[in-house]
Amino acid sequence: MPKTKTIFMCNDCGHEAARWLGKCPGCGVFNSFNEVNFTKPAKGFATRESFGTPSQTAMKLRDVKPLDEQRIPTNMPELDRVFCGGLVPGSITLIGGEPGIGKSTLLMQICKMAEFNGKPVLYASGEESLAQIKLRADRLDEPFDNSRKGERPAPPNPAELFVLSETNIKTIADEADKLQPALLIVDSIQTMYLEDVTSAPGSVTQIRECTALLMRLAKVSGITVIIVGHVTKEGTIAGPRVLEHMVDTVVYFEGERQVSYRILRAVKNRFGATDEIGVFEMCHNGLIGIPNPSEYMLVGRPINTAGSVVTCGVSGTRPLLAEVQALVCYTSFPSPRRAATGLDYNRVVMLLAALEKKASLQLSNYDAYLNLAGGIKNTEPALDLAVAAAIASSYKNRHVNANTLIFGEVGLAGEVRAVSLADKRVSEAAKLGFKECIIPQANLKGLKSPSGVRVLGVGSVGEMMEVLF
Ligand code: TYD
Ligand code: MG
Repeated sequence: MPKTKTIFMCNDCGHEAARWLGKCPGCGVFNSFNEVNFTKPAKGFATRESFGTPSQTAMKLRDVKPLDEQRIPTNMPELDRVFCGGLVPGSITLIGGEPGIGKSTLLMQICKMAEFNGKPVLYASGEESLAQIKLRADRLDEPFDNSRKGERPAPPNPAELFVLSETNIKTIADEADKLQPALLIVDSIQTMYLEDVTSAPGSVTQIRECTALLMRLAKVSGITVIIVGHVTKEGTIAGPRVLEHMVDTVVYFEGERQVSYRILRAVKNRFGATDEIGVFEMCHNGLIGIPNPSEYMLVGRPINTAGSVVTCGVSGTRPLLAEVQALVCYTSFPSPRRAATGLDYNRVVMLLAALEKKASLQLSNYDAYLNLAGGIKNTEPALDLAVAAAIASSYKNRHVNANTLIFGEVGLAGEVRAVSLADKRVSEAAKLGFKECIIPQANLKGLKSPSGVRVLGVGSVGEMMEVLF
């Protein structure tokens, strides 16, 4: 007979307590405790025995196959970049993202594109009917415009794809155990429920228990599992933080729904680095990788226009050019407006103050609107110098040369400080045809400038103003 236990659990972090608490000792949030009736599983439930795998025996370390040989390549270079070469068999990955960003599309593409060596793939959806899943899958088969760069390669040996429209996680796990697919996709974890837990699907307990069941399935049967998690308004995956602790890899799919490009970013990876990003474009027939995102970000930028400056940020180890735009205009109101889209607002306000004090720009009578074009976000301090240049350019109504790229961190004294990976940023600029780079003086030492690019070092914002205007 299963035993029923009543506990109290924090909705935010999953902290458990025997009685109701006003403030969660785990995360400090008030009024987040809920009563949960938890049925202790009966013997044999979702344990090693239920998935019928022989128990492990000790093995010589030198006989263990290296991970890289076992990885499943997805045949999508941008995706493999994020997963450091491919999916790891028996791993469990959580993919988070806002609704409508393209998580289901990306996962369906993995099912169709990756190399599974003839093994089947199971796509379980709690959100869509079988007909809807088929509609999406057919859409991805539409002919592809090969004139574009970053085209999808033809699927070499597509896996047999099984689909299941189900919200009972036990049924899904049993089906997966029967089918032994190379990959199991659960879309989404918030719609799944386990009968033994009384709370509603999407609650902390349900999410945690469903993930635990999938985790055991992955570890015992060696099935690779990818689960989809919705994100909350704050941008974190809905449900407890413990979800992120439980899985091997956490990736976020980001972007604005209005803009067609998307960024896939790893935030946790037990099998590799988390510093790579993958850039995709959402087309009418699925996502295509963008191998050269810098070029893509700069399409359509205004040439020789005041307030527009190109800079180079680094996401992980990948340099990414972006256009900083500033609009500075006079206001008769006593407190001017400041707005920053895609940039760190506090840094923008600090830079406006530094320019007022150190470069004698009378910005206190001016509204200032800053934007990182293309809908991307970057809060790196290395963008400071370009933001300062864009503000000054708009204020003075003098343009910065379209072939000039600017980066560097600005301190409170108006000094320009060194940034990391300066050589990578300069060579990315050279690759895209920029003729001049304005960089921190401190980064000049030992920097090999590519041919055809003039690299100028500046020590302060004042010096930068002299060089530019
Ligand atoms: P979807 O993968 O359903 O998002 P999620 O699972 O993250 O909620 O993608 C939703 C959007 O993508 C939807 O608005 C339609 C669009 N879309 C395309 O533009 N092209 C395509 O080929 C597909 C399949 C979807
Ligand atoms: Mg979806």
